Amino acid sequence: MKNSSLIPENSVYNEYENNVVEIWEKNNFRLGIPIIDLQHIWLIHLIVKMEFYSKGDMARETLNSVIIQTIEFLIEHYSTEERLFQIIQFPNPLSHTRTHRNYVEQLKHIHKKSSESIYKVANRILVLLNNWLYKHILDHDHKYKEFIEHAEVDIYKCNHELVSHVNISKEQVRLYQRITKDYTIKNEIINKNLIGTIRDIWKTYNLSIQIPIIDMQHLWLVKMFVELDLASRTMASIDRMEMFKKTMVRSLQYAKEHFATEELLMKEFGYPRLTIHSEKHSKFTKFLKKRNEEYKKNDLSAAFNLVQNLKDWLYSHIALDDKSLRNFFHKDIIAVNQFVKQLNVKGMLKLHNGQVALYQEFYKR
Ligand SMILES: [Fe+2]
Ligand SMILES: [Fe+2]
Ligand SMILES: [Fe+2]
Ligand SMILES: [Fe+2]
Repeated sequence: MKNSSLIPENSVYNEYENNVVEIWEKNNFRLGIPIIDLQHIWLIHLIVKMEFYSKGDMARETLNSVIIQTIEFLIEHYSTEERLFQIIQFPNPLSHTRTHRNYVEQLKHIHKKSSESIYKVANRILVLLNNWLYKHILDHDHKYKEFIEHAEVDIYKCNHELVSHVNISKEQVRLYQRITKDYTIKNEIINKNLIGTIRDIWKTYNLSIQIPIIDMQHLWLVKMFVELDLASRTMASIDRMEMFKKTMVRSLQYAKEHFATEELLMKEFGYPRLTIHSEKHSKFTKFLKKRNEEYKKNDLSAAFNLVQNLKDWLYSHIALDDKSLRNFFHKDIIAVNQFVKQLNVKGMLKLHNGQVALYQEFYKR
C-alpha cells in the first residue's frame, strides 16, 4: 500500500480514502451484500490508517488506539458474517469461523506482547492483516458469495436482517457510498432510526390501546409524525417538500379511515363520551384541511404547522383521549376483535400493507 507519511496533516483524510478506493478497485473484493462490503471497505480503511501511523515518529497512543479499533471491528465483522451464515444456512460454516477465531487470537497475541515497541507490533499486525485482506476475502469469503449466488438467496432481505444487528457510523456509510454508489445502506439506516424513534415514543407514552386495529393505525400516525419531523430537521428543502406533500395526502386519508374505525367501535359498544370524542376528531380533520390549503397557496409555514399539529394530536388525543378507550374496551376485548373482523369482511375497514408491516415489526407476529 502507498506510503502516506509525507503528506501534510490536513490532506491525510483524503489520502486514506484515495488509497482505500484504489485498493478496492484493483481487487475483486466486492461480494454484493451491502453490509459486508461496507465492513470490508472499513477494514481496508483501518489498515491504511494503521500503515500511516506506523511510519516513524507518529503518535504512539493514536497508533495503539487504531490497532485496538481494528481488532474490535474485525470481531464485529466476524460476528456479522457468522450471523449471515446462519441466515443463509451456509453448509459447513465451521472451517470458515475457525479461521476467524485464528486471526483474532493471533492479532490479540501480537498486541499483548508488551516487550516490543508499538511500531514493531503494528508492523507485525499489518503483515497478518494484509494477508487476511487478500487471502481471506478473496478466497474464503468468496466461497459464501458463490453459495449465495447458487442458492439464489434474497440478498436485500439478508442485508436488512444483518443491518439491524450492527452499528454503522455515518463515516462508514459515506465511504461505502463513495466507492460503490449504492444507497441501500443509507435507506436501511434511516429506517432503523425511524423504527427506533417510533418505538421510543410508543413506549415512553405507553400508547398501546391493546386493540390491534387501533394500535396499528396509531402506530402509522406516529410513523408519519416521526418521518416528517426527521425530514424537517435533516433533509434538503426539495426532499423536505416532497415528504410534506406525501404526509399531507396520507394524513388526510389516514384521519378519515382511522376516525371512522374508532367511531364505529365507540358506537357499537356504547362509549359514553362518543360525541365529545368525535368532535375532537372533526377538529383535527379541520386542522389538516387548513394545512392543505396553506400548502396549495405555497405558504411556507404549512409544513411546520403540520408537524406541530401531528405532535399535539399525538400527545394530547392519542396519549390521553384514546387511552381512555383502553379501559372502556378492555372487558369486551374478544367481542371488540370479533366486531373488527366483521367490519373487515364487510369491507368497512381499510388495511394497508404498510400499516400491517409496521405493526408486525413491532409485535413480531
Ligand atoms: Fe469478511
Ligand atoms: Fe470471513
Ligand atoms: Fe385515535
Ligand atoms: Fe380518537
